[in-house]
Amino acid sequence: MALSLDVQGNNGNSSVVDLSLAEIGKYNASSDCWIIVDDKVYDVSEYLKFYLHPGENDAITPYCGKEATNAFQTQDRMRKPKDHSGYAWTMLDDYYVGDLAKCLKYFSWLAIWLVRR
Ligand code: HEM
Repeated sequence: MALSLDVQGNNGNSSVVDLSLAEIGKYNASSDCWIIVDDKVYDVSEYLKFYLHPGENDAITPYCGKEATNAFQTQDRMRKPKDHSGYAWTMLDDYYVGDLAKCLKYFSWLAIWLVRR
């Protein structure tokens, strides 16, 4: 769970860490789980460990180590998507570890665009 900083550098800003998808992808277990929401990275391991999620751990664990923005914004409800409350969005702040590295962000958008078109 320790944050390793072997990644993209952070442009001299010591308060923000830019994390690569490869780094984030290492945290893909329910006991060690990072998720990406809106280009920010959250370590929700403790949240899962104490079973704090009203939507059960199973809703979150498929996204460990991965992009989870759409899942968070829709609660993974395919037919009637429902965003999390402001309270839930604020709660994410408690688990913030860093930002998705920007070049990867643009690469991700390109990849999503290529897949969806
Ligand atoms: C990333 C994947 C996630 C999915 C697919 C997901 C899905 C869901 C679902 C289906 C519910 C509704 C439960 C019910 O009404 O029975 C729910 C509620 C909730 N979830 Fe999540 N969740 C995710 C991540 C998170 C995270 C990371 C947090 C907090 C750190 C969180 C906080 C909450 C809260 C506080 C509620 C109660 C309703 C609300 O305030 O919006 N969820 N979630």
